[in-house]
Amino acid sequence: MLSLSNKQIILGVTGGIAAYKAAELCRLLIKAGADVRVVMTPSAAEFITSLTFQALSGNRVHIELLDEEAEAAMGHIELARWADLVLIAPASANFIARLSQGRADDLLSTLCLATNAPIAIAPAMNQAMWCNQNTQENLQQLNQKNITILGPGSGEQACGDVGFGRMLEPQEIVQGAADIFETGELAGINITITAGPTREAIDPVRYISNHSSGKMGYALARAAMEAGARVVLVSGPVELEAPPQVKLVAVESARQMLDACKVVPGDIFISVAAVADYRPANSASEKIKKNADTMELSLVKNPDILAHISLSDQRPFCVGFAAETQNIEEYARKKLEDKRLDLIFANNATDTFNSESALATAYWSDGEHPFPCSSKSSLARDMVSLIARCYRKSKVENR
Ligand code: PMT
Repeated sequence: MLSLSNKQIILGVTGGIAAYKAAELCRLLIKAGADVRVVMTPSAAEFITSLTFQALSGNRVHIELLDEEAEAAMGHIELARWADLVLIAPASANFIARLSQGRADDLLSTLCLATNAPIAIAPAMNQAMWCNQNTQENLQQLNQKNITILGPGSGEQACGDVGFGRMLEPQEIVQGAADIFETGELAGINITITAGPTREAIDPVRYISNHSSGKMGYALARAAMEAGARVVLVSGPVELEAPPQVKLVAVESARQMLDACKVVPGDIFISVAAVADYRPANSASEKIKKNADTMELSLVKNPDILAHISLSDQRPFCVGFAAETQNIEEYARKKLEDKRLDLIFANNATDTFNSESALATAYWSDGEHPFPCSSKSSLARDMVSLIARCYRKSKVENR
């Protein structure tokens, strides 16, 4: 069965007779593991009721741009950031024209402008409208903007005409959606990713740690796996499930993480973990009793796992992260240099720990690239794409 597990998909439904097929599409997307939120244009609501989609998706359907109640639940910008994919099926000739012009005159077109997620459309219209030069020019423009066009198919149409313009069958659209995530950019590459916090024991019941949730590292592991890589995920304690195709190595402390990483690096090493910089010099074997009013804890420095890997003889392509609260670029570039990294992603520590969405800037020796705020899974896919490009470039340069 096709997998869209953990994918957050906005299903956009526009006005056309094929809107009834979007109900089956919604069901199949959910069956493939996606979390679906439906956005209808007002004319789609003339063809099929929002109640159908609400029942199928289990989520409230969004129609109006200026809807106080809907905005209070999940505002349109939040919705745009939430999406891993905006899939519009059926996409009418009118909607395609508005999308190609970058209009923002209803909720769905506004979402398309505001999202950083990939957009795919499944056109559905009369064959003459499909062949019309204006429609074809609009589609060309969408193609140039990297919008995926799924179909249309050819055959008998609701109006009695025969030709191109039939919306693809729901199962074919689900396949098209799954293909968008499976890029093959890292096919056959071995990647090790560290994620989550480490815990440094004070005694058997207490530890030093931080707020890392593992969400960024796990999103990268999934995105790398979908791009075709074989992924080992060395993870500190988090409450997340790793994708079944990813090999999970669970650790607690920085020293355990280092030991695990020494064994597995492969072609690319991505260090997302928020490793505790210090650990108690002595971890008590019994629970420390709270008799005194104050207590002193002596700390020693933990090994730097990323530096250890990147400074080793057989070093893989090394990618670091820098979580900073100030002078973000300066500190990130210093880490890039000091740890001899190929690439570093800098993010604001205050906004990124344990959040659902994030923004970051990538720095490398002679370049940089900003990533706008989006869901961590969407951000991870863009990061993986950049890592794949830089990795391939480094291979060509080192030949
Ligand atoms: O897990 P989330 O809640 O989703 O949050 C994501 C994140 C904020 C943890 C992530 O985006 C991030 O920024 N990770 C790196 C956090 C960090 O520890 O940064 P740093 O600037 O202290 O370390 C620089 C680099 O060295 C990092 O790649 C880190 O993994 C690595 N390092 C640091 C110390 C150490 N002892 N060993 C290391 O390998």
